[in-house]
Amino acid sequence: MSIRKEDIQVLFDTQTIQKRIVELGKEIADYYRPLTDRLYMVCVLKGSVHFFSDLLLNIPMNVHYIFIQVSSYADNQSTGNVVIKSILDESIEGQYVVVVEDILDSGKTLHHVMRFLEQFQPKDLSVATLLDKHENDHLGVTPRFTGFQVPNQFMIGYGLDYDQIYRNLPYIGYVP
Ligand code: IMP
Ligand code: MG
Repeated sequence: MSIRKEDIQVLFDTQTIQKRIVELGKEIADYYRPLTDRLYMVCVLKGSVHFFSDLLLNIPMNVHYIFIQVSSYADNQSTGNVVIKSILDESIEGQYVVVVEDILDSGKTLHHVMRFLEQFQPKDLSVATLLDKHENDHLGVTPRFTGFQVPNQFMIGYGLDYDQIYRNLPYIGYVP
């Protein structure tokens, strides 16, 4: 199956996304400023690239950038196999760490990412996700910060791909 751009129904336009990200950035800074003078933000590539970039521009405190690449999906179906294809280039031991994800669906990806990061003994590890398919139970992963709750539909755009395309749409939509 392929998806035509004309068939994508917009759920969140650019302005709506940016407005929410400004709020989230403030929420995150308000939470961590009393606790630490620097925050370690982990971008889960590739889907989080735009969210990570826009979010960090809106966090008025010192942040470290960490990138990890994770593969979990083939086409639009979960393979169930989550592979972390990165090494950490900075120590996060004893630090406040926030994992930034595009979307929380089954929770398999973040469950693996959290287990991977825990072995480096951060002081505090949490999740900021732009989208949360809240009807799913997420294997016990609970985001501390959420952009939008979304229905159980396949979302596209603003980093989210369909078979590796449409990541660069400046809005988020789905095919009804
Ligand atoms: P989970 O492991 O099932 O929670 O899914 C997380 C990953 O699957 C996300 O980081 C996305 O890369 C991908 N994914 C899950 N749902 C969607 C969707 O609706 N659209 C595009 N990608 C998705
Ligand atoms: Mg992803």
